[in-house]
Amino acid sequence: MSRLLVCPPDFFGIEYEINPWMRLVNRVDHARAVRQWHELMRMLERDLGVVLERMAPVPELPDLVFTANAGIVVGRTAVVSRFRHPERQREETHFEGWFRRHGYEVMTVEEGLHFEGAGDLLGYPEYWFGGYRQRSDIRIFPLLSERFRREIIPLELVDSRFYHLDTCFCPLSGGDLLYFPAAFDRYGQTAIAERVPDRLRFTVREDEALKFACNAVCVGKHVVLPAGCPTTQAWLRTRGYETHPVQLDEFMKSGGSAKCLTLALG
Ligand code: ARG
Repeated sequence: MSRLLVCPPDFFGIEYEINPWMRLVNRVDHARAVRQWHELMRMLERDLGVVLERMAPVPELPDLVFTANAGIVVGRTAVVSRFRHPERQREETHFEGWFRRHGYEVMTVEEGLHFEGAGDLLGYPEYWFGGYRQRSDIRIFPLLSERFRREIIPLELVDSRFYHLDTCFCPLSGGDLLYFPAAFDRYGQTAIAERVPDRLRFTVREDEALKFACNAVCVGKHVVLPAGCPTTQAWLRTRGYETHPVQLDEFMKSGGSAKCLTLALG
């Protein structure tokens, strides 16, 4: 059974600008954001049978809703994120507290090394991919690779609009992959192509990548993805996935969508 950590959007908003999507003038319609978030949760819980763990929202932490950035959970161990931007560093103790209270063995990252959790570390059971440069530092990956005995392939993120790996790269349960190649350098594109066979890889169109088609949540053969990505949905269906589009445009104002609003707890 799939368990996800989520955080209600009580204090969600745009209060600073730390990625190209965020504009202080682009106010969030709060009631609409709350409705969109609840619709996502309803879909995950009722339609897909996911167990949701809700952490308490905290005033003045508008990005705490993006629990993908809490850290990563591997078995009973949680590696807590160390954010690049001071605006989000204040979230770290809240995520750490949640993991400790729920019985996880907590691993922290040394001072000065940045790591933004499942936003930048994704993969398949046997090996993972790590996104770096925009938020996480490449130096974190050898440490995690050794700790969890998994190969981690580092991928440099070269387009600031795709600042976390989960904005442009989405491994799926059947070994398939949705991705937007232009978000990676030539080396990264080659590394991906060497690992994931052509027939399992879908190149998301730019207009759909900009709607965060890759920021999808995959639960078994179900994929929850942002609304407005018909060609991505059509490909997913040919691969045997059932697609569930959700409108999450209020969260796009912050540079996030479905996947960022969840963290896999295993
Ligand atoms: N406003 C947040 C930030 O810039 C959005 C985070 C989205 N999270 C993600 N995993 N892509 O940090």
